[in-house]
Amino acid sequence: MSQITTLERPAQEADVRAEGRAEAAAPLLALRNVEVVYDDVILVLRGLSLDVPAGSITALLGANGAGKSTTLKAISGLLRSENGEVTRGEIQFDGSRIDGVEPDLIVRRGIFQVMEGRRIVADMTPMENLRLGAFSRRDRGIADDLERVLTYFPRLKERTGAAGYLSGGEQQMLAIGRALMARPRLILMDEPSMGLSPLLVKEVFGIIRQINRDLGVTILLVEQNARAALAVADRGYIMEQGKVVLDGSVEELRSNEDVKEFYLGGAGDQRKTFKNLKSFKRRKRWI
Ligand SMILES: Nc1ncnc2c1ncn2[C@@H]1O[C@H](COP(=O)(O)OP(=O)(O)OP(=O)(O)O)[C@@H](O)[C@H]1O
Ligand SMILES: [Mg+2]
Repeated sequence: MSQITTLERPAQEADVRAEGRAEAAAPLLALRNVEVVYDDVILVLRGLSLDVPAGSITALLGANGAGKSTTLKAISGLLRSENGEVTRGEIQFDGSRIDGVEPDLIVRRGIFQVMEGRRIVADMTPMENLRLGAFSRRDRGIADDLERVLTYFPRLKERTGAAGYLSGGEQQMLAIGRALMARPRLILMDEPSMGLSPLLVKEVFGIIRQINRDLGVTILLVEQNARAALAVADRGYIMEQGKVVLDGSVEELRSNEDVKEFYLGGAGDQRKTFKNLKSFKRRKRWI
């Protein structure tokens, strides 16, 4: 539409472009200088800022203990159940502040977190788990959505026993399916690759991409597996010790020498990679 407008009224082309820039400048989710403290004393996020554009898959990468899960919990409001608190900064979702909002209200606003370690209910069936995902909804579309979700995860349909007996990959799929049942606008995913074989990682990440494209769900993807995450993401952030140290498009990150060396290096040997983080930081100070 803007193209037609531009053709008909060439004088206003600049306005149309400015409008486009304004849209790009208003991400669906924005964190601004967020500080998080646990137990009143443990400072974990130290002024973290990031943007998640609507419709994107944005990757948040970093080593153990960098604060990735803490970031997701700050967004979903689940920090408080761990005695954590956003003590500074702002979290904006779709133009409104959500830091300080109760977790169930955040779900109702359209953000759903898929926790690290999946956290499905082991003694309920997969179907019961999926229905749980719709707890915040009161509409009549739940049955249809259940069918739609199952088209992404047909295997879950055949599993009628307790979800605790599902394989790791199936549990991950169930956790993602349960998130979809909430009809979220933004899914926060915490290490979906954890404990999965390379083949299953590929399958799960393929499904993540498909969900993003088909349903337009925006995804903030936390991963230690940088290779897998950058294969599906549009842009990414790398964090260390509670702060963002690098960000860019996936192409920029993949071609960055430090990222190549420390995050994509070798055959994905994370241990070797993280041992080198000290020199990563030292070198970065020079850039
Ligand atoms: N509930 C808590 N109480 C106190 N400290 C915590 C709590 N949760 C996390 N931390 C601390 O905050 C820091 C960041 O933890 P976080 O779980 O956010 O890291 P992460 O990047 O997700 O790491 P990983 O890749 O190992 O999952 C760690 O030093 C951790 O010990
Ligand atoms: Mg974590």
